Amino acid sequence: MEIISKIFLENKAWAADKIHMDREYFNKLALIQEPDFLWIGCSDSRVPANEITNTEPGEMFVHRNIANVVDLHDINLMSVMQYAVEYLKVKHIIVCGHYGCGGIKAAMTKDSFGNMDVWLKKIKDVYGDNALEVDAIVNEDDRLKRMVELNVQAGVNKILSAELIKSNPSIIVHGWVYDLRDGILHRIAGG
Ligand code: CO
Repeated sequence: MEIISKIFLENKAWAADKIHMDREYFNKLALIQEPDFLWIGCSDSRVPANEITNTEPGEMFVHRNIANVVDLHDINLMSVMQYAVEYLKVKHIIVCGHYGCGGIKAAMTKDSFGNMDVWLKKIKDVYGDNALEVDAIVNEDDRLKRMVELNVQAGVNKILSAELIKSNPSIIVHGWVYDLRDGILHRIAGG
């Protein structure tokens, strides 16, 4: 359990650091949550929303799932989105995919992954809608990269079509892709 003890030690060190920088840090955070952004990203451990955007706790409301899938029938995502829009009054919704996404790669095979197949089907549908374009890309890496972008684009389109967003037209929906190899975000849709 040494690895778990380390987490608690690091947590104490982090909290002490924050207090050292600003004595009221946690008191202020505990009082109010006013994030401007809802982040919809991949669960991939290499794409942590706060770290890659250099934002602090309190600045971003976050939802993550395998391959940052947007499905308007997903009660989890839709509850997060409703809370973010109606109660937190976020100004921006960001759908962020990433190159090298394992979920996208898995969905582009014919293999079965058990229970996950239901989830991956949503990505296969994005491929189905864009098969002509994707199949025309010869290089496999390029094909997967394009699928990452198309999946983000599809997510943005779905969010824009949601009643919740149509009735809150001031909210700006962004589609971004993060590159694991250099840590840089790219705008690819919306905004
Ligand atoms: Co991923």
